Amino acid sequence: MPAPHSRLLWRDVTIFDGQQELPAPMAVLVENGHIAKLCRTGALTAADTDDARDMGCGGVITPGLVDCHTHLVFGGNRADEFALRLEGAGYAEIAQAGGGILSTVRATRAASEDELLAATLPRLTALVADGVTTVEIKSGYGLTVADELKMLRVARRLGQAQHGSLPVRIVTTLLGAHALPPEYSDDKDGYIRLVCDEMIPAAAAEGLADAVDVFCEGIAFSPAQCERVFDAAARHGLRVKAHAEQLSNLGGAALAARHGALSADHIEYLDEAGVHAMAEAGTVATLLPGAYLTLRETQLPPVEALRRHGVPIAIATDANPGSSPLFMPTLMLNLACSLFRLTPREALAGMTANGARALGLADTGRIAEGLRADLCVWDVARPTELAYAVQPGRLRQRVFNGEITHDRTQERRDER
Ligand code: NIG
Ligand code: FE
Repeated sequence: MPAPHSRLLWRDVTIFDGQQELPAPMAVLVENGHIAKLCRTGALTAADTDDARDMGCGGVITPGLVDCHTHLVFGGNRADEFALRLEGAGYAEIAQAGGGILSTVRATRAASEDELLAATLPRLTALVADGVTTVEIKSGYGLTVADELKMLRVARRLGQAQHGSLPVRIVTTLLGAHALPPEYSDDKDGYIRLVCDEMIPAAAAEGLADAVDVFCEGIAFSPAQCERVFDAAARHGLRVKAHAEQLSNLGGAALAARHGALSADHIEYLDEAGVHAMAEAGTVATLLPGAYLTLRETQLPPVEALRRHGVPIAIATDANPGSSPLFMPTLMLNLACSLFRLTPREALAGMTANGARALGLADTGRIAEGLRADLCVWDVARPTELAYAVQPGRLRQRVFNGEITHDRTQERRDER
């Protein structure tokens, strides 16, 4: 890895700033972990270039990618269920028969914290190698206080500066209300009481959760139950989000919006009233094309209505063992366009500026002076190409919090 250097300079690059492409040629100067200057290359002064390390010319610089919805920490896998679905079994049917999420719950409960950490590292490494600098990780496969906290601890450890951690920022979400665990099979309200009265307070007390999520669905929890979770989160100062309108329309996104949700996610079955409620609350619409593809969903999310109401759209992998075993954020850019008809600009904004917004982060996901320097330099000529082609290997450099963590040009120089 190259030695850290306090001033890094790129010239004659094309910038996608998180919302749009800026007219080339641009220059970016990174200093002390921040974007110190963003200007036309011709406007650089001697003071800017003085003592700055030349990081190269050409290519496209985007904000580091933000994957704002993942279930990266889990035990086992669901390859068998994948095969069953190919033989005709449905996602909800498998879940009702005790498979699906609950089979991952069994494997996750059986795994130690260290085992979960070891299982998650390669998945997180794949995201990082594809340009992710910020990733949200949910719990939701423990479903006891101890197992949910175990998952959150693993997520936290992955991002802390220590042996085995990666250069990536991790945001954690408590998803206790993901599925009903077998111990509570005829007491959904009792389980919701456990989430509200024990899980949320414990996660908050240990500082393990940055937000609280729910799965509002017929196969999971009702709007009234989700509302109790939102109220408990608020009592502990935690923002909320929801898996909503994924398989049916229960009004979960509107409910979440009324509780000030950061985002409502999936939302294929969202109606106009729900879109309106999200717009009013400033709730981000997180679209998850990987789950749509894997479940062979046919109901498209209401993209046109989201645009009309000015709801910010984020895109994420939903990386998980069941509905989206897809650990490749740049693939989602392409799928968001091909499946949901987003423009490449919207897809890129969805994995940068709007992804950050879905996590409540204002200091990353955009390229502007004064923000954290989380950047990707790509070997492409135009930002559109990133959504157009699914082609691993185009990440030239990755900058995390002002430090170069990956530099192919350096590797090439080292080889000579
Ligand atoms: O985002 N919708 C519910 N939860 C996950 C699926 C988790 C799983 O199948 O393991 C999702 O699709
Ligand atoms: Fe999810």
